[in-house]
Amino acid sequence: MNQDLLGRVALVTGAGAGIGRETALQMAGRGAIVCVNDLKDELVAPVVETIRSQGGQAFGVTQNIASREGIRDAIQRSFQHGKRFDILVNNAAWVRYQAIPEILPETIDRMLDVGFKSVIWSLQEAVAVMDPDRGGSIINVASVAALRSAASSVVYSGIKAGILGITRAAAAELGARHIRVNAVCPSAIPTEGTQRNRNAERDANRIARTPLGRLGTVEDIARTICFLASDESGFITAQALTVDGGLTVTNI
Ligand SMILES: NC(=O)c1ccc[n+]([C@@H]2O[C@H](COP(=O)([O-])OP(=O)(O)OC[C@H]3O[C@@H](n4cnc5c(N)ncnc54)[C@H](O)[C@@H]3O)[C@@H](O)[C@H]2O)c1
Repeated sequence: MNQDLLGRVALVTGAGAGIGRETALQMAGRGAIVCVNDLKDELVAPVVETIRSQGGQAFGVTQNIASREGIRDAIQRSFQHGKRFDILVNNAAWVRYQAIPEILPETIDRMLDVGFKSVIWSLQEAVAVMDPDRGGSIINVASVAALRSAASSVVYSGIKAGILGITRAAAAELGARHIRVNAVCPSAIPTEGTQRNRNAERDANRIARTPLGRLGTVEDIARTICFLASDESGFITAQALTVDGGLTVTNI
């Protein structure tokens, strides 16, 4: 595999499953030293083991990144382990879809803590440890829900649209430190997290509306994140890259 991330230290939040796990595996395959974060050792350890068994470098950072202290600890441990900090993938999310009359305060709070506030605190912490000359790359995992509307997704769409605003504002503020900040907007991707919201009929409907005629995969999204992490995208910042097989742009 291409070794374009050789020696770079990368933290992937929520890397115990789905898009985050595949991103961690691909980054390690491309030479990065990957800090695998998730909530529990049972989620973190198998990913670290897989990377090591494939000859890559990884270590686990079991931590709840939903608080300022949690994301700070995850980034500081990554920095201490690798003696540098180059790539941050804000991927972790806790998601519930609720129709407007059913939205609960605790749902909003938890979704905001994991998927929005942690991204802001992560910027603060990443800036403190990224080398000002070498810079770094921050990739925020947003969603096509930031661009288009889905059922019962007022909270989710609001948070993901906010992530795009954070991405642009942070890119403007951090460019002088050579830190690039971009986002990816995946369409529906089969993962552990989306399993209970999917069924054959819904998938068939999505595929029928997608010009490329299939659902996206975790591999599709991880490859895009790796591209945004690498020097191949060295003059790209403040962008949201939609990875959806054409779904959101062609079906009007
Ligand atoms: N899968 C999709 O269809 C899809 C589409 C668009 C965007 N996304 C976004 O992609 C990202 C990953 O989605 P996924 O489907 O792979 O999710 P997933 O649920 O399969 O995996 C997410 C991981 O994050 C971990 N996590 C949750 N809260 C955490 C916390 N506080 N601290 C640390 N880890 C935590 C979970 O334990 C889990 O292992 C999310 O930001 C999601 O919104 C997913």
